[in-house]
Amino acid sequence: MLPICTPFLRGRLKKVIAIYPGSFDPPTNGHLDLIERGSKIFDELIVAILRNPEKAPLFGLDERKNMLEAMTEGLRNVCVDTFDGLMVDYALKVKANVVLRGIRAISDYEYELQMALMNRKLQPELETVFLMPAEQYSYLSSRLVQEVAQLGGSVAGLVPPLVEQRLREKLDPAIKLQPPIELKKRKK
Ligand code: PNS
Repeated sequence: MLPICTPFLRGRLKKVIAIYPGSFDPPTNGHLDLIERGSKIFDELIVAILRNPEKAPLFGLDERKNMLEAMTEGLRNVCVDTFDGLMVDYALKVKANVVLRGIRAISDYEYELQMALMNRKLQPELETVFLMPAEQYSYLSSRLVQEVAQLGGSVAGLVPPLVEQRLREKLDPAIKLQPPIELKKRKK
């Protein structure tokens, strides 16, 4: 028989609503991996894109929202939103009790710890939960994807095909991404 610690609470436990905040410029397969993992753990997962007037992003807010919505179309408990100001204020507004963040390598830890503790100081009720993406995405970042794409390298397998397409549209005609392998073969 399965152990049940608090049988009287079963079925009426508090819903766990998580936000996954970030810049997502552009969203990568690492982000998607984390969203999929989060959607299995939390009742609701809100992917929250930061509107940061101080940064000039490659993709506008609406473009990033549109890409993330398409990427998460099949995940019924996931939605995409935008926010500005303090993340803890946004969390309060959407009644989230958890912040989801990814940790890829030990190098992420210091910054993430600082941010999690500052957020805890600001809003003690809000818990930060860290998840690790699949190993194949442990070196992946939006900044590197942007750089590789801008210099004409292939980002296939690092971002969803839709994002790859949007990158190509954004950077073409100045800089072209490498054509897909099938195209290269056909040209020979
Ligand atoms: O994808 P990123 O750029 O690593 O995400 C960073 C983000 C958006 C989570 C962080 O910069 C943030 O929460 N900004 C909102 C402003 C805020 O609350 N600042 C205090 C953080 S301790």
